[in-house]
Amino acid sequence: MQPLRCWLLLLLVTFIGIEAKSAPEGCFRAAVLDHVHQTDARHLSNTAKIIDLNFKVYEDAAALAKKQGADIIVFPENGLIYSILSREKADEFASDIPDAEVNACTLDSKFVYNRLACLAQKHQMFVVADLIDRKSCEELGINNVSDSCPADKKFLFNTAVLFDRQGKLLGRYHKMHLFGEISMNPPPKPELLVIDTELGRLGMQICFDMIFKTPGYLLAQENKFDTMLFPTWWFDESPMLSSSQYQMAWAFGNNVTLLASNIHRIEVGSRGSGIYVGPHRTLAAALYDDSVERLVLANVPIKPKETDQSACPLDSEIIEVPQQIPIPKSVKYHHQNLNLKDVTLLQLSSNESEVHLCHKGVCCQFEYRLAMKDQPQESWVDRVPLLANMLHYLTPEERYYLLIANRTRPGAYPWSEEFCAVVVCPSSRWNFGKMQKDCSKIGSNQELSSRFVHAKLRGKFSEDTAVYPINVPNEPEYFIELGAKDNSESRAMELGALVLYGRNYNRDPRYEQKALPINL
Ligand SMILES: *[C@@H]1O[C@H](CO)[C@@H](O)[C@H](O)[C@H]1NC(C)=O
Ligand SMILES: *[C@@H]1O[C@H](CO)[C@@H](O)[C@H](O)[C@H]1NC(C)=O
Ligand SMILES: *[C@@H]1O[C@H](CO)[C@@H](O)[C@H](O)[C@H]1NC(C)=O
Ligand SMILES: *[C@@H]1O[C@H](CO)[C@@H](O)[C@H](O)[C@H]1NC(C)=O
Repeated sequence: MQPLRCWLLLLLVTFIGIEAKSAPEGCFRAAVLDHVHQTDARHLSNTAKIIDLNFKVYEDAAALAKKQGADIIVFPENGLIYSILSREKADEFASDIPDAEVNACTLDSKFVYNRLACLAQKHQMFVVADLIDRKSCEELGINNVSDSCPADKKFLFNTAVLFDRQGKLLGRYHKMHLFGEISMNPPPKPELLVIDTELGRLGMQICFDMIFKTPGYLLAQENKFDTMLFPTWWFDESPMLSSSQYQMAWAFGNNVTLLASNIHRIEVGSRGSGIYVGPHRTLAAALYDDSVERLVLANVPIKPKETDQSACPLDSEIIEVPQQIPIPKSVKYHHQNLNLKDVTLLQLSSNESEVHLCHKGVCCQFEYRLAMKDQPQESWVDRVPLLANMLHYLTPEERYYLLIANRTRPGAYPWSEEFCAVVVCPSSRWNFGKMQKDCSKIGSNQELSSRFVHAKLRGKFSEDTAVYPINVPNEPEYFIELGAKDNSESRAMELGALVLYGRNYNRDPRYEQKALPINL
C-alpha cells in the first residue's frame, strides 16, 4: 500500500475510533471513581507506600476512563493521602500548591500533586483530585503572632485541585467544613471558586461542605456554575443521609450537574459515587456493598440548563478497575443510623391510603398504594390491597413509617433540618438507648416482598428552607427520574426511602471545627 493511502486509512480508523467513544456535541463524558483504599496491615504506617499503591489504581482508572472516551476524571477525597492523624505527617506529604500553574508535571516528584498533572497530560484529560496544601501565615497575609495563625505558623488545607488536558493547574479549593480532621485547618476566608473551561463553568466543594450553605448551595442559588466537582469521603447514615441519596438530592434540588467521587470503604459506611444531571433528572450511580473498585461514566451537558436531554443522552456505564491489594470478602458494610431525638414516627397501618401529619409546624401528606412484589401488574388497577390488609403477609422486618422533624440535628456538628420521610423499618430492633432504628438499608438488596405502585409525598416547610427530594430504590446501579421539586413521587418501585429533606441554612448554628472520635 502506498504511504499516503496508509495514512488516510489510519486517519479514518482513528477518526472512527474517536467518533465511537466521544460524547455528542455540547456534551462531555465524565468519569468518577468509587475508590477502595489500598492498604493492609503491612503498610499502615508507611504513608509513602500507601500513596504509591493508591496512585497506581488512579493510573489504571485514568487509562480505563480514557479508553471509554472520558474527558474528565474525578478522584475522591483522601483517596491517596489518608490515615494521617498527626500534623507532622500531614505536613510531610503536603505541598505548596499555587493558585494556578502552567505545567505542574514532574514525573519523578515525591509529591502526587506533580504526578497528577502528568496523568492529566498523558491522557489529555481533565483531572480532579484531593491533596494537602500548605501555606505559611505570612503568605496568607496573616500576622504570625495573631490568634488566627496556627501555633506552627502555617495552614494545612484539605484541597481539591483541577488540572486541564495539558496538565495545567486551573484552580484549587480549600475545604471549608472539616469533619473532625484536626490535623487540617479551615481556610481563613470563604472560598467561592468557579473555573471556566471547555467543559463549562466548574465549581468545587469537598464532602461535608455539601451539608452547608457555602460554597455549593450559595453558588448554585446565584447560578454561578454548570457542574460541581465533588471529591468526598462520606459516612452513610440510614435512612436519608447516605452518600448517593444526598448526592442525588443535592444535584436535583439545586438543579445542577454533580460529579461525585467517593471512598469505598464499606466497614465505615463509605460507598456510592455517581454522575447526576439535575436539570435532566437523570443519573448514573454505583452503590455496591462489596469491595470492588469501580468507575462510573456518563455523558454530561456542558450547559445543562440550555441543553435538551435528547441532545445529551446519559449513555452510562459502570466498569471495574483492578486493585493492588484486594479487600477480604469478610468485610461487611456498616453504617450509622439517624438519631431520632425530636423526630415524630407514625407507622403506616391504617386502612387509609393517605396520611396527613404535622409536627412543630412541618406538615407531611403521603398518598400511597402498595402491592405485593409478585402481584402481576394487570391487577394493580382495580385491585390493589391496602397496606393494612397486606401487613399480615409481610415479615416484621417490613414496616413502613412516616418520619417528621423540625429540629437542630443533635451531635458534634449541629445543623437545622425539616423533613418528611417514608422509610421501611423493622418493627422490632429498636435501640431506644441510642434513639436509633435501622431503617431503609439503601442499596443493600434487602429483600422486600412489597413495593409501591403509587406513592406521593408532599410537605409544608418554612419559606426559606431548601427542599431536597430523595428517592433511591434498592438497586446497586440505578437510573431514575423525579417529579417536581416540592413533591417526591415513586411509581411501581421497591422503595428504599422517599424523602423531602429540608435544610434551613439560615437557622444553622455557627460552624466550628471539632475533633471527632472516629478511628480510621
Ligand atoms: C513572622 O513574621 C515576621 C515578619 O513578617 C517574620 O520575619 C518571621 O520570620 C515570622 N516568623 C515565623 C515563625 O514564621
Ligand atoms: C431547572 O432548570 C431548567 C432550565 O433553566 C428549568 O427549565 C427547570 O424548570 C428547572 N427545574 C427546577 C426543578 O427548578
Ligand atoms: C380495615 O378494613 C377492614 C374491612 O373494612 C376491617 O375489617 C379492618 O378491621 C380494618 N383494619 C383496621 C386496622 O382498621
Ligand atoms: C420550625 O421550627 C422553627 C423554630 O424552631 C420555626 O421558626 C419554624 O417556623 C418551624 N417550621 C415551620 C414550617 O413551621
